[in-house]
Amino acid sequence: MFLNNMNWIVIAVAILALGLVMYWLFVVTEGVYLGRRMVIWLYDVTAKKYDGIKQFDAGHEQQTIVEPLLNGLAGEDPYWVLDVATGTGRVPALLLKSPNFTGRIVGLDAAGQMLALASAKLNALSNGQNKRTVLVQQVAEALPFPEDTFSAVTCLEALEFFPSEVNALREMVRVLRPGGFLMTTRRRGYEARLFIGRYRSTEEFEDLLGDLGLIEVTRNHWQVNYDLVTARKVKRDP
Ligand SMILES: C[S@@+](CC[C@H](N)C(=O)[O-])C[C@H]1O[C@@H](n2cnc3c(N)ncnc32)[C@H](O)[C@@H]1O
Repeated sequence: MFLNNMNWIVIAVAILALGLVMYWLFVVTEGVYLGRRMVIWLYDVTAKKYDGIKQFDAGHEQQTIVEPLLNGLAGEDPYWVLDVATGTGRVPALLLKSPNFTGRIVGLDAAGQMLALASAKLNALSNGQNKRTVLVQQVAEALPFPEDTFSAVTCLEALEFFPSEVNALREMVRVLRPGGFLMTTRRRGYEARLFIGRYRSTEEFEDLLGDLGLIEVTRNHWQVNYDLVTARKVKRDP
């Protein structure tokens, strides 16, 4: 039996709708609605393409990441920095290349393939004598460190992919020393609103940081679709 025109239109619309849903699930929101394992798997299988897609601008990275981070660390020597969701080692590599940074860095990520690339990059940067960085495969919601450990915690372009950004931020604050510096990103723009049920406005995000014990919050429009947000963990009364 032949399908009539109406049936073809219904089929075409259904295929289009399915395609849009798949695009939203796997590309726009990178698997976050399908669970943590899916997000990590997607990063594992696409790891080798990551740096090529991102094409980070070294001058912009220096100005927007390294300089504010070094300013935030001032007076904390000797220091340890934790980079949560380090990916291919963006922040550790930037810090290793910076002559003004003398501390040590832990890069944590759940995706083993991303960490393998980070490891190769960091070893190459230190001529195989890499004693200043440690890479850890772990999820952001359960950081395997005691409280008050790090002078600074960074987490760039990743919060929106965690099962719970609140739990991950709570963990970051826990492992920060009192007075320690947090640098993170908040997704903005129309794509941010496609994270249905997860989107937070600037005010809501800043309120959350305050509720978690962070003060001195700053926010700058960064890259195309992020705010770069910094804050400090409140010091305890003596
Ligand atoms: C967009 S990349 C950002 C990487 C790096 N921060 C950068 O700016 O290039 C997101 C990273 O988050 C990691 N990730 C996703 N979910 C995670 C989780 N629950 N715990 C730890 N890392 C996670 C991914 O493996 C990926 O490396």
